[in-house]
Amino acid sequence: MCGIVGYVGNKICQEIILGSLERLEYRGYDSSGIATIYNDQIQLRRTVGKLSELKAKIIKEPVSGTIGIGHIRWATHGGVTEQNAHPHLVNSEVAIVHNGIIENYVELKKELTDKGFLFSSDTDSEVLAHLFAYVIEQGLRPVEALKAVLSKIEGAYSFAVLSKSYPGTLMVARNASPLAIGISDDMAIVASDATAMAHLTRQVTYLKDNDYAVITSKRLDIYNGKNEPANREVVKVNVSPVLLDKAGFKHYMEKEIHEQPDAISHTISAMTDVNGGLSAGLDLQSLAKMKGIVLLAAGTSFYAAQIGRYWIERLAGVPVVCEIASEYHYRNPVASHQTTAIVISQSGESIDSLMAIRHAKNLGLETFGIVNVLDSTISREVDKILPTRAGPEIGVASTKAFTAQLVVLICLAISLGRQNGSLDVDKAVDIHQGLLKIPGAIGKSMTLFDSILPIANQLKNSHSCLFLGRDILFPLACEGALKLKELSYIHAEGFASGEMKHGPIALLEKGLPVVSFVSEDESARKSISNLKEAEARGGFIIVIGTQTAVNLIDFATEKIIIPDCDPLLTPILGAVPAQILAYLTAYEKGTDIDQPRNLAKSVTVE
Ligand code: F6R
Repeated sequence: MCGIVGYVGNKICQEIILGSLERLEYRGYDSSGIATIYNDQIQLRRTVGKLSELKAKIIKEPVSGTIGIGHIRWATHGGVTEQNAHPHLVNSEVAIVHNGIIENYVELKKELTDKGFLFSSDTDSEVLAHLFAYVIEQGLRPVEALKAVLSKIEGAYSFAVLSKSYPGTLMVARNASPLAIGISDDMAIVASDATAMAHLTRQVTYLKDNDYAVITSKRLDIYNGKNEPANREVVKVNVSPVLLDKAGFKHYMEKEIHEQPDAISHTISAMTDVNGGLSAGLDLQSLAKMKGIVLLAAGTSFYAAQIGRYWIERLAGVPVVCEIASEYHYRNPVASHQTTAIVISQSGESIDSLMAIRHAKNLGLETFGIVNVLDSTISREVDKILPTRAGPEIGVASTKAFTAQLVVLICLAISLGRQNGSLDVDKAVDIHQGLLKIPGAIGKSMTLFDSILPIANQLKNSHSCLFLGRDILFPLACEGALKLKELSYIHAEGFASGEMKHGPIALLEKGLPVVSFVSEDESARKSISNLKEAEARGGFIIVIGTQTAVNLIDFATEKIIIPDCDPLLTPILGAVPAQILAYLTAYEKGTDIDQPRNLAKSVTVE
């Protein structure tokens, strides 16, 4: 993770860099820093804590200069200390900011230490600073210096380097971690993503893996991994230039929960063809080719994938496997029965998901991406995008992107089922009609904030919590548990209801909260028996479902009612109370909801 920024131009850059770092805060927030060159000296400011700490420091000790770099950190190597914060400065000569992991840093550190270099941090990144200082002291000019350093490092990186010897030049490179370069007549800005620069320029070039570049306010020279000059397309990005605000809500997460009716309406529109039918935005030929699908994703997006599997298998009869992205690309998956890989990612930047879809491409599969951020690396690399139209999601815990992913997946299942004849037209129309009611139903669900608050107040004192679901509600139970643990730091696990008696039931003791998603379909009777077993052992039973479904569980202590819907659509409506429960529990506990400890919005390290 981490976010990096670099600027070279004719304006004093302190505020410009801070403004861009603010837009990258979703990538990490445990420390930050800035370095500029002014009067032939590198000026450095770093602090532990959120960006506001750096801003406060800079008010007291401003920096000057028209070239600079900035960093917002999510600690990987080395604890959260000022020493480990970036930029790393060596010999007052070179300052660097880095996102990624230098995998061979142990060997490099030893080599440099043996040469007499003194390290002041525990990070892998500091080796980069020493390597640049070394080659520049040897007299190498920027292009040669980059070439020399890149020939020594392995791993994932995007970095930006300042050198006192070249006070008008930024040196940058990328491999596996994203880096965008924004350009205008009198300045250039680099950053981990285009949102960090859209308020300054919309003309953006994305470096490819192993590219490096030397940038001045007037020139941009890019080289590829073979050290040849490379032309990279300049694209116009569409990201919103404004800094997003909370629109009167206490947290981005609260706002994003409320934005779900719009996110879902927009996503349904994007999945609707000119005749008003659901099309998933794919032509019949593309659909006909989908004979076996692998869904690749991480975290919440993975749970969306698992729900999607039920839909695609049930409505379209197409075999689906779901793979955790970080596992998939290190296995030797047998893909002979598969035609299509679909990666699901809100950010489009999760490194695990990116590596997984590249792996699938190498296996010869056609690649699709269900992606929210359309100017992202995954969006650019897949053969075709199925967009979620959730809008920018800032809160670290995914909410509206998840429900929008579900909408895309059910539209895909319906389109596939219609195309291959597994789904009859009446059922397809029924589901479509049901889907069109979801935005309104989610709007109504906002009253749940009031009814769930007393439950959250009880939950906040628990040390552990189980989430149960059967069939299509099992992955939702896992998602509910993930939301609760990441926001409130309460240990929570999701289980398939029927799996409880195979082991997890041993965890049950008096008062243990058991949150169960219940449905009105044929699985209901079995879920009730499983819940009875939990109640008999003293569990504090909380059920989430439609009125008809929860009426079946007369012994539940708490009942959370969602609007009536086709049982097939329950995961979309059921996600909302799970989000609200996690949000309110965290709120009542007083944790940092939009930026929970140890997490970052976009996970760009393996
Ligand atoms: C949890 C959450 C994460 C992400 C995961 C994948 O609330 O947001 O689990 O879902 O890191 O991120 P994307 O979808 O951006 O690839």
